[in-house]
Amino acid sequence: LYAQKVDSVLKLMTLDEKIGQLNQYTGNFQATGPVVEDTTKIEQIKLGLVGSMLNIKGVKNTRELQEYAMQSRLRIPLLFGLDVIHGLRTIYPIPLGEAASFDLNLMRRTAAGAAKEAAAQGVHWTFAPMMDVSRDARWGRVMEGAGEDTWYGTQAAVARVQGFQGDNLADVHTVMACAKHFAAYGACIAGKDYNTVDMSEQTLHEVYLPPFKAVVEAGVASFMNSFNDINGIPATGNQYIQRQLLKGDWNFNGLTVSDWGSIGEMVAHGYVPDLKGAAESAILAGSDMDMESRAYVGHLKELVEAGKVSEKYIDDAVRRVLLKKFELGLFDDPYRYCNEQREKETVLSEELRNLSREAGVKSIVLLKNEKQALPLSEAPKRIAVVGALADSKVDMRGFWANEGVVEEMVTVREGLASKYPDTSLLYAEGYDLETNELKLQDALRVASQSDVVIVAVGERYFSSGEAKSRADINIPQSHQQLVKELKQTGKKVIVLLMGGRPMIFNEMTPYADAILLTWWLGTEAGNAIADVLAGDYNPSGKLPMSFPLHVGQVPVYYNYKSTGRPESKNKGYTCCYQDIDFEPAYPFGYGLSYTTFEISEPVLSKETYTMGDVVEVTVKVKNTGSYAGKETVQLYIRDLVASITRPVKELRGYEQVLLQPGEEKSVSFKLSMNDLGFYDSQLNFVVEPGNFLVMCGANSKDTKFAKFTLN
Ligand code: IFM
Repeated sequence: LYAQKVDSVLKLMTLDEKIGQLNQYTGNFQATGPVVEDTTKIEQIKLGLVGSMLNIKGVKNTRELQEYAMQSRLRIPLLFGLDVIHGLRTIYPIPLGEAASFDLNLMRRTAAGAAKEAAAQGVHWTFAPMMDVSRDARWGRVMEGAGEDTWYGTQAAVARVQGFQGDNLADVHTVMACAKHFAAYGACIAGKDYNTVDMSEQTLHEVYLPPFKAVVEAGVASFMNSFNDINGIPATGNQYIQRQLLKGDWNFNGLTVSDWGSIGEMVAHGYVPDLKGAAESAILAGSDMDMESRAYVGHLKELVEAGKVSEKYIDDAVRRVLLKKFELGLFDDPYRYCNEQREKETVLSEELRNLSREAGVKSIVLLKNEKQALPLSEAPKRIAVVGALADSKVDMRGFWANEGVVEEMVTVREGLASKYPDTSLLYAEGYDLETNELKLQDALRVASQSDVVIVAVGERYFSSGEAKSRADINIPQSHQQLVKELKQTGKKVIVLLMGGRPMIFNEMTPYADAILLTWWLGTEAGNAIADVLAGDYNPSGKLPMSFPLHVGQVPVYYNYKSTGRPESKNKGYTCCYQDIDFEPAYPFGYGLSYTTFEISEPVLSKETYTMGDVVEVTVKVKNTGSYAGKETVQLYIRDLVASITRPVKELRGYEQVLLQPGEEKSVSFKLSMNDLGFYDSQLNFVVEPGNFLVMCGANSKDTKFAKFTLN
């Protein structure tokens, strides 16, 4: 549609102006890499030497910079990008937490809500969603994605892209999405951020690339390179990944942006000798826009003039940038996202806050509920609220949410106060928020004066996120000790576990009557938690990542391979640890409800299928408890013998069923041949005949199975 217009602009551009379109600077806040002191940015914008700015938001600020761009010779508007990861001013649960909802429509709606708010603040482009498959809980960035499973992560990535972009980029309530980080960033060795990635092509295609491929098909507007090298070649300079696969085989017509400084970092990788070499490598590989390396603006011109880089590569990159600016409607009106009235009406609106609360309740996972400790059946007279995290606003906001105003977050203490206006809430810190030093005396006093103890423990907001890898993912010892001591009062102890990743907390588990995993839930955290404690929402979340028993198990994930000596409880010469169990503490897909469910054995429509058939699977699910509740029935497959070894289980479907007490429903799944296929050793996607298992259940461990043959 816009190709001719793009070309007509391109024809008018000097080489300097073209390179300018590929140059992105930060507006300085939220810097996650080195910031170059530069007082000439505005002058450069006026000269048409800047195509995009990141970290600028607000109608006033974006309008001001856009006005400078309108003083440039060709009046090409600026593109404003920002990390809108789980909301902008209204903060939603962290993406990993929200993934626990297994509710794709919810993800679409929160992404759309975030887009609406961002667009109303002058932002055109979010650097989200992150779709890195994450199997290693030590990696701090697990909080930004949908967890360990490729199939589920793919559905979540598509839903989030659809939410951010809607079906029309020109709609002023949407923003461009960005598929990141391309590629395989989640497989950084030992979970150390920015680390090397080394894997087979087969694993790359089967485990790490599918979400990215799927969002290209769904029309994602942009991609971001990852910091890591893959099998020896940095992603930013990787011609196979970007030029051949993304822009070639997958036919992606959007733009790619480097990660912060990742072009320049190819020097530190030891892949190029200097920034000039980095610019050459990145542009040839297909990295269109340079985020804060200053490699393109500094060196592309001399590389073209020296004949090292053909101008056709620059033209291709510029076309992609201009196309998005046309699609956003910026050439028609560069100020169309700068409407003060819209900004006022949209930011932190009641509608968005309600959505945040809904997302909050749906993200919570019930890990333990001894003797139906929860819900709190009627308003208790006195509640002890213990743990400094229960009173900390900033910790409700979580990482990657700097634009959320701390004072606007609802704490657990506040949420409980408005849920139970007639209850006395007795609060004690329990531990020092900064040092974690145990503060027992007051905690025990308020506990002994109350009917029930609600204690908040876990990670602080800066503990998971970029550059937040950790070798020890146990929650602080003092938090566990606190739970133990509180239980000695004889009171019912309800634990709220907060954090951005799978954590280890074995020591406190036996002393908790109930454990609710409440992640970092955002603006409405306290209200959402109170809703679940009170039973106004029956928890339905399921873990999108396995929670390890011991850090030595990491990476621990449900879809491992059998090996020649499958692990066994008796250990011996099998694939296991001698000192600990091989099972995680809580498996992928795990999550309880205030009610109980029974899921039947799966029934297949046939015993033998032929290639091209649809495999129909039916299970019955019954609410056997006394509360209405939602169960997520999960379906896994296993290809028993194949030309390359297959995982012991692979998620291929799930259904959420709402049931009244005593109610039973049938759930049907349809498996296509695609669901049974995989990439073979030649990287062809194949479906091989043979025997398969279908397994259904409430999580990846507790399943019942049926067998079928495919001819
Ligand atoms: O979008 C982020 C990316 O995920 C990590 N490095 C910085 C970028 C921009 O802030």
